[in-house]
Amino acid sequence: MKKIKVNLDKRVSSSYEIYIGYDILDRIGLIIAKNLPARHYVVVSDSIVAPLYGQPLLSRLRGMGLSVDMVDFPAGERSKNISTTLAIVERLLELGADRSSALLALGGGVVGDMTGFIASTFMRSVPYINIPTTFMSQVDSSIGGKTAIDLREGKNLLGTFYQPRGVLIDVKFLDTLPETEFYNGLAEVIKYGIIEDVELFRFLEKNVNDIKGRDYGILVKVIESSCRIKKGIVEIDERDNGLRRILNFGHTIGHALEAESAYTISHGVAVSLGMTAAVRVSEKLYDFPGEERNRIETLMEIVGLPCRIPQEVRTDGILSRLKMDKKKEGNVIHFVLLKKMGMPFVNGGVPESVLRETLEGLRK
Ligand SMILES: NC(=O)c1ccc[n+]([C@@H]2O[C@H](COP(=O)([O-])OP(=O)(O)OC[C@H]3O[C@@H](n4cnc5c(N)ncnc54)[C@H](O)[C@@H]3O)[C@@H](O)[C@H]2O)c1
Ligand SMILES: [Zn+2]
Repeated sequence: MKKIKVNLDKRVSSSYEIYIGYDILDRIGLIIAKNLPARHYVVVSDSIVAPLYGQPLLSRLRGMGLSVDMVDFPAGERSKNISTTLAIVERLLELGADRSSALLALGGGVVGDMTGFIASTFMRSVPYINIPTTFMSQVDSSIGGKTAIDLREGKNLLGTFYQPRGVLIDVKFLDTLPETEFYNGLAEVIKYGIIEDVELFRFLEKNVNDIKGRDYGILVKVIESSCRIKKGIVEIDERDNGLRRILNFGHTIGHALEAESAYTISHGVAVSLGMTAAVRVSEKLYDFPGEERNRIETLMEIVGLPCRIPQEVRTDGILSRLKMDKKKEGNVIHFVLLKKMGMPFVNGGVPESVLRETLEGLRK
């Protein structure tokens, strides 16, 4: 089992460890008991993950003599809202949870974001541990302490910065993960390779077939590299005031695409299209090397993440969504662009004509 320490500024948050391994459910109980001793634990999960992994986790923890309950809610982003939050909190109260309780978030990013949010506010905060079960949450959302729920007006509008006491990653959870969800995670991993770690990018190029075949040895390595990159960025900029912005690479256009397709395009596909667009803009405006653009687009193609925007998602629609973002953000859109691989920077505005030409170019 690998162990990675997240070192945070003591005045703001406590440091914690990320554990990564394959088939480590038996050891997770010991790690929880050691890192986060509590009178009472509540596993928070969703309706898909609870029967798959919640019950086995519960019986192991109970077998160790720990007092544990479980609360679950209907799976999916649509549950990441205030009414589900209140329903979970009410269940916690019914179960007798108090300040001596601890929460265990078992699931994808939805479970992690919402459980973290509840942990940061329930009885003025209780500790929690993240046990991410999707590829996306194992490489991205479980690390960094951003918690949130969605409001009708938009995603992640109510949230806190609140670090977990530990992150426990069992790669075996990925055995049951549907294909689309797997690709959502893969897009974020490719993002790390492009913005921060050319070595990781090379590793992805070399091992693409084993990754697609979910070879667990290779996945452990990919997840470990990804966690190291994300934690390195979070250590420098825990509160998202600067460097952490580079993690938005591919996400500005990606979010506009997701919304304009009425969320029929998945996050992973939208981000990979957003990354391709950002790379092409970088080539036009900042001489990003054409051969590196080719490498990126080839890798996306081989893994099966498309580089082409579907016809029905209109360029004008995408551009007007970007303009709406611009109004919200004080009249500039912060695009993350690249001088070359591993050298991202935040640009304060791309001319509309360049964006239009780039988006149209992604249809051919
Ligand atoms: N906090 C952050 O820094 C951060 C970063 C990125 C994304 N996010 C948030 O993460 C959320 C997306 O997370 P996600 O992609 O993990 O989605 P998700 O939590 O909705 O999980 C996707 C689906 O996979 C199912 N699932 C989970 N684990 C499974 C497993 N092992 N086997 C079979 N099915 C499984 C879930 O039940 C769900 O239906 C979004 O709300 C996004 O805003 C947060
Ligand atoms: Zn993302």
